[in-house]
Amino acid sequence: MKLLGIETSCDETSAAIVEDGRKVLSNAIYTQIDTHKLYGGVVPEIASRKHIEKISAVVDQAFADAGLTFQDIDGIAVTYGPGLVGALLCGVSYAKSFAYALHKPLVKVHHIKGHIAANYLSHPQLEPPFLCLVVSGGHSHIIEVSDYNTYHIVAQTRDDAAGETFDKVARVIGLPYPGGSQMDRLAKLGDGTKLDFPRVHFPDSLDFSFSGLKTAVINYIHRVEQRYGISISQLGDTDIIAHEKFEGNGVRQHVETVTKADLAAGFTRAVVDILTENTIKAAKEKGARKIALAGGVACNSFLRSAMQRIGAQNGMEVCYPEPVLCTDNAAMIASMGYYLFRNGETCGLDLNAVPYISIEKGMQ
Ligand code: KG4
Ligand code: ZN
Repeated sequence: MKLLGIETSCDETSAAIVEDGRKVLSNAIYTQIDTHKLYGGVVPEIASRKHIEKISAVVDQAFADAGLTFQDIDGIAVTYGPGLVGALLCGVSYAKSFAYALHKPLVKVHHIKGHIAANYLSHPQLEPPFLCLVVSGGHSHIIEVSDYNTYHIVAQTRDDAAGETFDKVARVIGLPYPGGSQMDRLAKLGDGTKLDFPRVHFPDSLDFSFSGLKTAVINYIHRVEQRYGISISQLGDTDIIAHEKFEGNGVRQHVETVTKADLAAGFTRAVVDILTENTIKAAKEKGARKIALAGGVACNSFLRSAMQRIGAQNGMEVCYPEPVLCTDNAAMIASMGYYLFRNGETCGLDLNAVPYISIEKGMQ
């Protein structure tokens, strides 16, 4: 069975054709990053306009890349939420028109379920049950995937999402939008052990909290800017931003330089520690043997390797999608759509975009 997937929940206009939920025949993605970069973040009204301009061409591209005609597909899967309502409406309206004109069934897909399904595309052998850490610009969840259509939220963020935290810190230190991938690049040039930022853990919950960490990093930046009369955003990757006193490990107190890259590395280490610790604890509690990563932040090289390492130490298998399937794309939506379709979950042409779907409800 071949499904056309459509994804327009944020700033990527994407259409893809996937066979039997596993085989990507095409995955056309038009990214609006260059447009939104000018404003330092996604401007919802502009995102909607761009989706309208591009959607037809992107769908045509998906068919051309797969070498198929409109009649060759068996149905349409579309992201209906959560996301920016204007942006979602573009994809939902397009998908409904397509379904109506071609008499094809329509399947509505929850965006986070789509992110999880990206793992089925990169790992053809992967089957539930597994535990999934979903970390993107808008979401940070640990989800227990019992089977293709049964999800249970084990933990979630109580404030900012992990990707949002990366983007905000990146912006303060002068990295272009979207900051996550830039932080990853910069952190590789630094030493993550020089600056120790707070890691918040709750006594009786595996929920995440990133706002305190974000504030601590931003306060540190303001402090050194005032102390040294510098503007970190104007400095180069490996320029010195501070001199800090260190002690420990049997070494007497000594002064070391801290660079902008060390700051990025210290911040990244804190985020990765929080994510990996809670995910491994959740896996132990649930008796999970397999852990999957999903969402844009799952591209992060430090998170990937730390999770692999700690997973292996605990006898757990860890997997993640290839980077292009971690960030927003329609192939993951078509994959999830297949499992919903197989479960009889088609929808009518009265489908509407839903910007804030309670995840529990959307997950059911
Ligand atoms: O899944 P996604 O494309 O969109 C949402 O559904 O939110 O995720 C985008 C997020 C952005 O916050 C971006 O900065 C982050 O993923 N991201 C990364 C990396 N690549 C993308 N964060 C950390 N390290 C990366 N390498
Ligand atoms: Zn996403």
